[in-house]
Amino acid sequence: MNLTGRYDFDSPLRRRGTSCSKWDGAARVFGKDGLLPFWVADMDFRSAPEIIDALREKVEFGVFGYPIMTDEARNTVAEWEKRRHGWDVDPDDVAFVPGVVTGLSAAVRAFTEPGDGVIIQTPVYAPFFRVITDNDRVVVENPLKETEERFVMDFDNLERVIESNGRVRAMILCSPHNPVARVWSADELSRLLDICALRGIVIINDEIHQDLVYSDARHIPIASLAESQSPLILTLVAPSKTFNIAGLHASAWITKDRAAAEKMRRTLASMDAGSLNLMAATALETAYSKGAPWLDEAMTYLEVNRGLVEAFLSERLPKVKMKHPEGTFIFWLDFREYGFHNKELQRILIEDAGVALNPGTDFGMGGDGFARFNIGCPRSILEEGLGKIERAFAKF
Ligand SMILES: Cc1ncc(COP(=O)(O)O)c(C=O)c1O
Repeated sequence: MNLTGRYDFDSPLRRRGTSCSKWDGAARVFGKDGLLPFWVADMDFRSAPEIIDALREKVEFGVFGYPIMTDEARNTVAEWEKRRHGWDVDPDDVAFVPGVVTGLSAAVRAFTEPGDGVIIQTPVYAPFFRVITDNDRVVVENPLKETEERFVMDFDNLERVIESNGRVRAMILCSPHNPVARVWSADELSRLLDICALRGIVIINDEIHQDLVYSDARHIPIASLAESQSPLILTLVAPSKTFNIAGLHASAWITKDRAAAEKMRRTLASMDAGSLNLMAATALETAYSKGAPWLDEAMTYLEVNRGLVEAFLSERLPKVKMKHPEGTFIFWLDFREYGFHNKELQRILIEDAGVALNPGTDFGMGGDGFARFNIGCPRSILEEGLGKIERAFAKF
């Protein structure tokens, strides 16, 4: 039990058999039953009781007709951004979309043409590739640069790829960045803004992980640094990762540029994807208006988990490296010292260790030899998983 807090993050939940992707979908994806799952990016925690109560109220009322998106919902998003991230958002600039990936895909359609180049900074969340290629646009990779301490944006290469590819129109920014757990600094974001403004590159900005930042880092919404309308920035935010309600599909998008907002609105309307379902709308509004105490405790719990992983790796699995994670609950484990390619690394994790981690190669260029590890679970499960990995790799 979590004896000091109001909320319980420590008692394992029985998610197996609840039709959840992380526990029940692992066998199909990894080809083996019974794996301990550290892959899909949701957490093995019950959501905030305030959200559960609000949903329960809707269930008990028992009428599930069409909802409207209220001014109150827009206000709660704007107030959240101001309170948590110091970003002044006009509630009129807020609109809704079920999933962040849906929003990314719509933005790619709204702000680029077929055949245009869209930059992503790899390794990165796999659907970023898909929303570009499935919309007949072209992926332009600007791989992150690895330094001793962290992964950083490669600005020289960014300028080169924009210049050498005459049709780059947009970038999908992941801030904080999945999977390398970076929280971009003001300097990095300002430099990116300058480059994109100068070259007319639209920033499609995914901040789904914005609230999941540890006490030694600070998230800065890139739009809060932009003094003018140039470059055009469209930001996607969501309570889904933050409050562990990803299965409800509730997200919001924000842009100051009214013409861009109109384009985005029309694109979403053409997909009939410009509003939320009743439960999603209820959860989003409750999360942003009443969820802060739960989130503060969740972050405290996750930060102890982060420390546990760092200590475990340095003391018991020293060949597995990890840059100090600044945000997110998904960490980028570097197994390269063992010398295994992805296939063999996955075989050991699945067959010998009995754990499910996302293969690094799912995240694009440079992912070979890595695996993504989800620490959003009770400590006993985290320790069990790390122990399994330690025992499987002991012979190498
Ligand atoms: C960077 C990033 N964007 C988007 C998503 C998924 O968003 P959604 O489920 O709202 O489409 C994830 C989930 O892991 C993510 O890491």
